[in-house]
Amino acid sequence: MQTKESLKQEAQRILRANDRGGFTIPTAGLYPFQWLWDAGFTALGWMQFDERRAWEEFDRLFLGQWENGMLPHIVFHRPEPTYFPGPERWGVARTPPTSAITQPPVVATFVRWMLEQAQDQALAEAKARSLYPKILAYHRWFKRERDPANTGLITVLHPWETGADNSPAWDEALARVEVDPALPPYTRRDTAHVDPSQRPHQTEYDRFLTLLEVYKRAGFDQLGLLRECPFRVASLLIDCVLHRANRDLLWLSRRLGLGNEAEIEGWLKASQQGIESLWDEEAGLYFNRDLRTGEAIRVGVSASFLPLYAGTASPARAERLLRTLQDWAQQVRYLIPSTDPYSPRFEPQRYWRGPVWAVVNYLIALGFAEYGYPEMAERIRQDTLKLCEVTGFSEYFHPLTGQGLGGGAFSWTAAIYLAWGQAAGPVR
Ligand code: GLC
Repeated sequence: MQTKESLKQEAQRILRANDRGGFTIPTAGLYPFQWLWDAGFTALGWMQFDERRAWEEFDRLFLGQWENGMLPHIVFHRPEPTYFPGPERWGVARTPPTSAITQPPVVATFVRWMLEQAQDQALAEAKARSLYPKILAYHRWFKRERDPANTGLITVLHPWETGADNSPAWDEALARVEVDPALPPYTRRDTAHVDPSQRPHQTEYDRFLTLLEVYKRAGFDQLGLLRECPFRVASLLIDCVLHRANRDLLWLSRRLGLGNEAEIEGWLKASQQGIESLWDEEAGLYFNRDLRTGEAIRVGVSASFLPLYAGTASPARAERLLRTLQDWAQQVRYLIPSTDPYSPRFEPQRYWRGPVWAVVNYLIALGFAEYGYPEMAERIRQDTLKLCEVTGFSEYFHPLTGQGLGGGAFSWTAAIYLAWGQAAGPVR
C-alpha cells in the first residue's frame, strides 16, 4: 500500500496524463473524449493544484453546447478510433461534433464550490460570470424541453443520460424498446478494453443503439421524442443533481447580482414535489419511475439516496435512508454498492449493477453530512479512500472484495481522491 502523499502525486499524474490540452478524457482507450459529468468532477480535482486549468475544463465543455441550451454528454473534440459510438454514428452536424443527449447536470453546483474555494477570487468570479448564462440556458432547456408540463420531474430519453448506463432500474423500460431490425451493424469497442463480465450485455447495447436511430429519425426534436421515444423514465440521478444545481444557480444569481431568482425558485418548487413523490414508505427508499407506465421502478440503487444531496428529503425520510444504508452495509464490505445487495439483480462486478463508484459516494456522503449524520458520511469517505489506496484509481470497485474494475487510471476517481482525501472533516 502506498502512502497518502504518493497517492496524491499519482492522482495528479493521472489528471495530467489524461489532459488533452484543456479537456480531460476519463481514461485512454475506453473513453477518449470529454464527458459532461466527468468534466465536473475532474475540475474539482484540478482545483486542488491548478485553478486555471480547473476552470478551463468547463470552457471546453461548453464549446459543445447546442443553440437550444442542451449540454451534450460527450464532446468529440478530436477523432479517436478506440470508442464506439463516435461522432459518425451520432450524426450531429456540429463543430466540435457532440452526442445528442445529456448527463447529470453537476456544473452549477461545482462552479459554486469552486468559486467558494478559489484562492484566485478574481479569476473565479470572472469565470463564474461567463459560465452563468450558459448554465442558465442549459437549465432552461431541461425545463422547456424535458418537463414542458411542469410535473417537477425531467423525462430522460436514454439510460446513458442518467450516467448509470446499465442499472437494473432500467431493465424493464429498456426491454420494452424493440431492437430496430434495420439497426446498422456495429462493433463494440468497450469489450476490447475491459473484460465483458464487467460491462453491459449485448442485448442492452442493441437497445442503446436503437435509441440513437430513433433520435436521428426524429431530427433530435425533443418535444416529439417526449411522446414517441420508446424509453422514458424519471431518474433520481438527473432530478436530484438538477435540483441541487438549481439551488446553486440561485445562489450564483444572488451572489453575482443577476436577477433570475423568481424563475429558478419556480423550478425548485416543482422539483421539490416531483422528487418527494418518488418516496416509497415501505422500502424506506426513493425509486426511479417509468414514465411510459407511470409505475415506480422498485429496485433500490445508490441513486435512491440522492434526495439527501438534493436536500429535498424531510428529516424523517433522511433517518429511514440512514437505516436502509446501514442495512445494506451488513451485506458488503465497502459502501455504497450501486444496487441493493439484497436484490436478485445485484451483480457485484458488472458496471452499474453492483460496483462502488467514487463519484456517487461523494454526492451521497455530502447529503448525509448535511442532514446531520457525520458518521455515515465519514464511513463512506473512508471506504472510498481505502478503495483507491488498496487497488488504485479504477473506474469502479467490487463492493465485497475491493477489487478495482473497469478502466484504470481513471480521471474522476483520481479527482475525488484529490478533492476528498486532504483531511477528515467537512466533506467539501
Ligand atoms: C460510462 C458511465 C458514465 C460516464 C462515462 C465516462 O458511460 O456510465 O457515467 O460518464 O462512462 O466515464
